[in-house]
Amino acid sequence: MAETHRKVLEVLNGKCLTPPPVWLMRQAGRYLPEYRATRAKAGSFLDLCYTPDLAVEVTLQPIRRYAFDAAILFSDILVIPDALHRNVRFEEGHGPRMEPIDTDGIARLEGAGVLSHLAPVFETVSRLRRELPAETTLLGFCGAPWTVATYMIAGRGTPDQAPARLFAYRHRKAFEQLLAFLADVSADYLVEQIDAGADAVQIFDSWAGVLGEDEFARFAVEPVRRMIASVRARRPGAKIIAFAKGVGLLLKDYRRLTGADAIGLDWAVPLSFAAELQKEGPVQGNLDPMRVVAGGAAMESGIDRILDALGHGPLIFNLGHGITPEADPENVAALVARVRGSG
Ligand code: CP3
Repeated sequence: MAETHRKVLEVLNGKCLTPPPVWLMRQAGRYLPEYRATRAKAGSFLDLCYTPDLAVEVTLQPIRRYAFDAAILFSDILVIPDALHRNVRFEEGHGPRMEPIDTDGIARLEGAGVLSHLAPVFETVSRLRRELPAETTLLGFCGAPWTVATYMIAGRGTPDQAPARLFAYRHRKAFEQLLAFLADVSADYLVEQIDAGADAVQIFDSWAGVLGEDEFARFAVEPVRRMIASVRARRPGAKIIAFAKGVGLLLKDYRRLTGADAIGLDWAVPLSFAAELQKEGPVQGNLDPMRVVAGGAAMESGIDRILDALGHGPLIFNLGHGITPEADPENVAALVARVRGSG
């Protein structure tokens, strides 16, 4: 079967591959001129996410250029609040905006129309599976409840998610209700992506690193555990990568407690610790995106250190967070060549 040659999927099944498969978080994005051209035609950013022709096109752009081992569905974690009628907008130069939610809004949340609102996303996934090379793993994704909730509470991005942390201390019950609600609708969303043709899915908890130890257990680990259990109850073979950014030592039990197959590592995770984590299962990461902007020796030495430390176990080579708009596309080509042993 063609599937057996999908390398990212093989690593998620515990295999060690040399060289390791490679893809980059945010690989479809503003560092690519062809992305900027499609983006300019789309109108709003959400129009780009909800127009299958355009979303398929931008997903395929980095695959054509670099033949990455995985394609990630082009969408955004904030389509869930959008489907929940929070009036999500992406303003040029300001990042995302939406209607901030309060305790009354949480009590009124209704999941009924979410999947039909997201139908264009499932159409994009099924078209991608048909159009991608057979050997390319197709990844779906969603945000973790905590990270999505931080935007829903503040109504925007903030430097340290103080509004959501404060809300959680003041209104613990309503906040936990919001997280459980998001875990359940996000699980339904992932099941639909898997049924549409996603080979595996990634859960992004990009803001987990601002939580204290106790809050990490309640607000990050528990909702992700609940989401994964719900997906697996319906799709037992589902392959899941969980990426909790900036949580340091708290990664120690994250795989076991959430039930994820693989864990994503940000660039601040020491490679010696990463090697310990890899003894328990596949890891993904963790080059500093700024090394890709710098290029040259800074990028090469960063790649080599990761390959030396983690290349002999189950590894999916990636960045420690998304690639940034200033990265030179030539540096990405050099990264892929070096990981694959020819650069
Ligand atoms: O990885 C990929 O190539 C798939 C697409 C993808 C996007 N967003 C496209 C996007 C994925 C996986 C995301 C996830 C996402 N979105 C996260 C979690 C991962 C992370 O990077 O931390 C978060 C927190 C968001 C929320 C979000 N979306 C913000 C804060 C912003 C504005 C900041 C920015 O980079 O502009 C977005 C917009 C966004 N999502 C863009 C892209 C390509 C840029 C918008 C544009 O092109 O105008």
